[in-house]
Amino acid sequence: MLNKPLKVFWLSAEAAPLAKVGGLGDVAGSLPKALHKAGIDIRLALPYYGSIKTPAKLLLKGLRMSIAKKSIVFDVYLTTLPGTKIPVYLIKHPLFRDLEVYAKIDALKHFSLWAKASLTLITALDFIPDILHLHDWPAALATCFLPEFKEDYPAVFAGTKVLYTIHNLANQGYDKKNNLNPMIEGIRRADYINTVSPTYAREILTKKYGVRLEKILLKRRQNLVGILNGIDTDLFNPKNDSNIKYNYSVKNLVGKTKNKLALQAELGLAVDKQKPLLAFVARLSWQKGIELFSDSLFDNLIIKYDAQFIFLGDGDSKYKKYLSKFVRKYPRNIKVFFKLDLSLAQKLYAASDFFLMPSQFEPCGLTQMMAMRYGSLPIVHSVGGLKDTVNSSVGYSFKNYTAVDLSKTIGKALKDFSSNPVVIQKKRQNAMKKNFSWQSAARQYFKLYQKMVK
Ligand code: GLC
Repeated sequence: MLNKPLKVFWLSAEAAPLAKVGGLGDVAGSLPKALHKAGIDIRLALPYYGSIKTPAKLLLKGLRMSIAKKSIVFDVYLTTLPGTKIPVYLIKHPLFRDLEVYAKIDALKHFSLWAKASLTLITALDFIPDILHLHDWPAALATCFLPEFKEDYPAVFAGTKVLYTIHNLANQGYDKKNNLNPMIEGIRRADYINTVSPTYAREILTKKYGVRLEKILLKRRQNLVGILNGIDTDLFNPKNDSNIKYNYSVKNLVGKTKNKLALQAELGLAVDKQKPLLAFVARLSWQKGIELFSDSLFDNLIIKYDAQFIFLGDGDSKYKKYLSKFVRKYPRNIKVFFKLDLSLAQKLYAASDFFLMPSQFEPCGLTQMMAMRYGSLPIVHSVGGLKDTVNSSVGYSFKNYTAVDLSKTIGKALKDFSSNPVVIQKKRQNAMKKNFSWQSAARQYFKLYQKMVK
């Protein structure tokens, strides 16, 4: 055991609620809390995106560095992760002023600036990092700058180890102009690599899920592990969630039914607790399996069960058009909301009977865990983190990524719903009782950090 607290500097482009696009934001907004509780001195640095409105105070003015021989000046503001004492340093530079996380062009330039500025900032703090914990390709850029910092500031960085967490191998940040793939740099240069579920750690070593990096990953397999994400179980708790009308718990599910009836009424769906309500909440991207929702799927399930579907999420206009087509056909049974709306998402977990997640691949997936916490039974493609979190005691899953298999699996769930309420009730209880807190993951990260600094 170490007797002084481990010092971890954490870089991710998102950290909820300050900046969030997807699951990475949730993880960065909650895992650090669990690590902090475990006694780790953990600190984060984010670009000071124009969209961040949390009060912050000026900490350091006019820090200097150069990138590609160009001199750059930036300021550092300090705030905390809301509700905690965890420091969050905000790197202020005009490049970030009009941004809400990811820039459409020149993302490499933005994140290089943030990554190098963060290392520069560390040299100005009284902080010797044991671990640089980097997340996804934007933060992987820090591994490109680290060697020069180790040389110039040995007293600060000599002992620093790098843990690189891959939340999604498909987003590699490849930059054509510079012919640089930050994901590859992170994989090659980090001391340890982890993915956000054990199954995904195995899958990415194969051609099917390796996104052309399986060979590079295979070379590093001795230093590659999978640690399953958790969720913030205080935030996602039907007992006291203020986003939902009726609070409830596993001991008394009356409130869940009331939420369902209220939502049906609000959205203009048939108000009837016997009608199955299915929710889908995700970024509308090719990863999420939207194309598996077919005409025949809706035809079958709506004719047979009068099933109700609600889709919530923002993203590719291609998928918005695709889903809107079904809404025009079944306006009384299908509703869509094309936006990122966390409060509505929580209402949907609480009101729905089933939660749809037919992702083509899924490094971990958080929403299926959130849904289970609210007693909504997941129906998932059995891959990655979905495989690690959903089995037949809590939900339904299918192996082949086809429209027919998704349709059949939903059909099975709806058959249970209409004729086998005891089975559904048992699954609901199991789902709500599952422990998805960060405790277990925090323990595993803690151990990994310790192993790395030994
Ligand atoms: C990415 C992955 C998702 C994972 C999340 C947090 O968004 O696609 O599966 O849950 O990161 O790790």
